[in-house]
Amino acid sequence: MSVHIEAKEGQIADKILLPGDPLRAKFIAENFLEDAQQFNNVRGMLGYTGTYKGHRISVMGTGMGMPSISIYAHELITEYGVKKLIRVGTAGALNEDVHVRDLVLAQGAATTSRIIKNDWPQFDLPQIADFDLLDKAYHIAKNLNIPTHVGNVLSADLFYSDIDTLAIGKLGVKAVEMEAAALYYLGAKHNVQTLGIMTISDSLVTGESTSSEERQTTFTDMMRVGLETLIV
Ligand code: HPA
Repeated sequence: MSVHIEAKEGQIADKILLPGDPLRAKFIAENFLEDAQQFNNVRGMLGYTGTYKGHRISVMGTGMGMPSISIYAHELITEYGVKKLIRVGTAGALNEDVHVRDLVLAQGAATTSRIIKNDWPQFDLPQIADFDLLDKAYHIAKNLNIPTHVGNVLSADLFYSDIDTLAIGKLGVKAVEMEAAALYYLGAKHNVQTLGIMTISDSLVTGESTSSEERQTTFTDMMRVGLETLIV
């Protein structure tokens, strides 16, 4: 047991998919994993371990935002020995060439947060994905013919913000979400592999958004990319 996870030692695989929504974790466990066993329900943050194509894989919700994902990722890494962590979530497009339903692989994550500066005030550490996971995810997504972008995202602290988020799109930043930078920081801090895969649920440029039905389909595509990336 750790402070926020009630799993016993050995109940969590060393590879994990991390959706923000715990009910998405349940959906993945029920639809993609075989023999899935629930290992966590503390605060309703559901977590499961099962097998995917014969490989032991876990999936667990993280909640929204960097403080929340930091708590779960930290405990998964330091108390349960998780070595590969892939966030699967949604993001808002910041660029005209990034459309709803497209996939964004976050090669790097800029942030509005001080979460990394709290530990390291003396420099700006670029938050980057693990290259091996990124490379695998890119080729898997391409082979599945999913429109895929690779580049920076912005990990924001505020969903409802008065700052001009679109301005950072001018620097080529593909999309805004709320977790990747913190996950990448913990990957660097603990020398484990991390990646953020996002589907575009809405566009801050065009105002376009996806229906919940469409979100389910694109979510399924993203799951496949995440799961296949974890096992190759
Ligand atoms: N902002 C932050 N996170 C998001 C957004 C957004 O507009 N859309 C989906 N996730």
